[in-house]
Amino acid sequence: MNDRRRQWLDAIAAAADEASLHEVESRLFGKKGEVLELVRAVATLPKEERPAAGKAANLCKQEVEQALAAKKDELQQQALQKELHDPSFDPTEPGPRPRRGSLHPITIVQNELIDLFTSMGFCWQDGPEVESEYFNFDALNIPGDHPARESQDTFWLNDRNLLRTHTSPVQVRTMQRFTRQGFQPPLKIIVPGRCFRAETVDKTHEHTFYQMEGLVVDEGVSTANLIHTMKTCLRVILQREVKVRLRPGFFPFVEPGFELDVNCPFCQGKGCSVCKQSGWIEILPCGMVHPNVLRQGGLDPEEYTGFAFGMGLQRVVMLRYGIDDIRTFMGGDLRFLRQFPEIAR
Ligand code: PHE
Repeated sequence: MNDRRRQWLDAIAAAADEASLHEVESRLFGKKGEVLELVRAVATLPKEERPAAGKAANLCKQEVEQALAAKKDELQQQALQKELHDPSFDPTEPGPRPRRGSLHPITIVQNELIDLFTSMGFCWQDGPEVESEYFNFDALNIPGDHPARESQDTFWLNDRNLLRTHTSPVQVRTMQRFTRQGFQPPLKIIVPGRCFRAETVDKTHEHTFYQMEGLVVDEGVSTANLIHTMKTCLRVILQREVKVRLRPGFFPFVEPGFELDVNCPFCQGKGCSVCKQSGWIEILPCGMVHPNVLRQGGLDPEEYTGFAFGMGLQRVVMLRYGIDDIRTFMGGDLRFLRQFPEIAR
């Protein structure tokens, strides 16, 4: 046994690289490996010889194993050293950088709007995407037979719940919570969030879209306050001076209700294909909060007035960056997304 042990240890010592060491290893420890055979052979000896022979065989096996492991280490170190001293290898060269993601353009604009409105004293509110029929429609003075409630427009769930079709339900949710806790106006909130409608998707329509609701309630709030706030907001987001105009617009939860247009940022109002030669772009629906909505919120419409607006975020982002197809937002195309290199703060 001693001879073979010597032979094995010599074979290990003689291995010049990891590949030849691997060969030795499989010869000794692989299937039918010589070392393992030796251990197994103990069982064939006469009974009295087995304990001593077993012990010797195990010791031998351990010794060979240790020699193998030590040699493996040594060869690995050697290989590493060789690589490090290879003149074509420069350990000071920076490695490939992991690619950093960036913010989605909707998130960029949403963050800017949140910064702007919170700097004007608005408070950022959140609300559920799965909403009740009551908050999405009834509380907002939308009659039971209004076409918006129909399933062509609304994704209904079980139990008269639905995917909210706008962020307006958070108006009444917030007013109720506010008055229940004993607060009185002023109340100024913004509600950015995702909304859903059973739309056929095309260049300008998505079934899933982002809005930012705004609500201001106080004594003596007027349309002038609404216009001033909207102008400030559009100037910041579109990064230019803007002119706005109001047209009447109908929403059951505001009275009067308006469509607010901004002068076309692409042609400065001269008329182009984006504004369909009109010089104006419809940008946000808004109005003075309907007395019934204030009552639903627990506020007295004799004492308080308010304004509300519902900005379609995609729309604003499209105007800001000159994007002409709403489907690019959800398409997940990196060539699109990498054009907005802003990273998370
Ligand atoms: N919620 C309305 C919509 O989604 C927009 C809106 C909000 C209109 C607030 C007036 C006031 O169409």
